[in-house]
Amino acid sequence: MRVPGSETVVLDFPKRAVREPIPDEKFRYGFEIAPELVRTVLRDDEPDWVNTIFLSTRFRAWRVGGYNEYLYTFFKCLTDERIAYADGWFAEAHDDTASVEVAGWEVQRRCPHLKADLSRFGTIEDGVMTCQMHGWKWRLADGKCLTSVGHDLRCAPAGEPVPGEPIPPVEHHDARGQHELEP
Ligand code: FES
Repeated sequence: MRVPGSETVVLDFPKRAVREPIPDEKFRYGFEIAPELVRTVLRDDEPDWVNTIFLSTRFRAWRVGGYNEYLYTFFKCLTDERIAYADGWFAEAHDDTASVEVAGWEVQRRCPHLKADLSRFGTIEDGVMTCQMHGWKWRLADGKCLTSVGHDLRCAPAGEPVPGEPIPPVEHHDARGQHELEP
C-alpha cells in the first residue's frame, strides 16, 4: 500500500546503498513511519531511531522470518562512531573459541546473544538448546538460531570437533632427524 504523499525508501544492506525501489521488488523487513517524523530525525541528525521512533511505537513494521537484532542495532547506530562500536562488539561476540560440554553436546561456552555462560545457563531438550538467561533457542543439529537471524551456535556431539574450534597442533616426530642425533 502506498499512502498519498508518502515515499518508499530502500535500505539495501548487501549493496550498502539507499535507493528507490525497483518495480515488484520484495522485501524482508518493512517499516512505515510518518514522513514528518523521518524529516525531523534527519534534520536533527538523530543517531538512535530506536529511542526516538521505535520505543514511542509511532511506526508500523512487518517482516518475513525471525527477528533481526542487527537491523534494530543499525537503527541505534546512525553515526560512524556508533556503528564502529557495534561492529567491534559483534566481532568480539563471535570470536569466542572456548567450548563446554552440556548434556552430551559440545557447544561454544558463551551464548551468541549476550555471552551468558552456557555451561550454567544452557539447557537441552529434544535437540534444542535454550539459554535460560533470555530464552533464546538453537537447533543443535546445525547450530541454527531459532530466535533471531545470524546468531548461530557452534556445536557438535561431544567427542567430535566443534566447527570453528581451533585445531590443536599435532606433534610431529621426524624419525630421520632423531636418528641423526643419536651417537
Ligand atoms: S545471554 Fe543467552 S539468551 Fe541472552
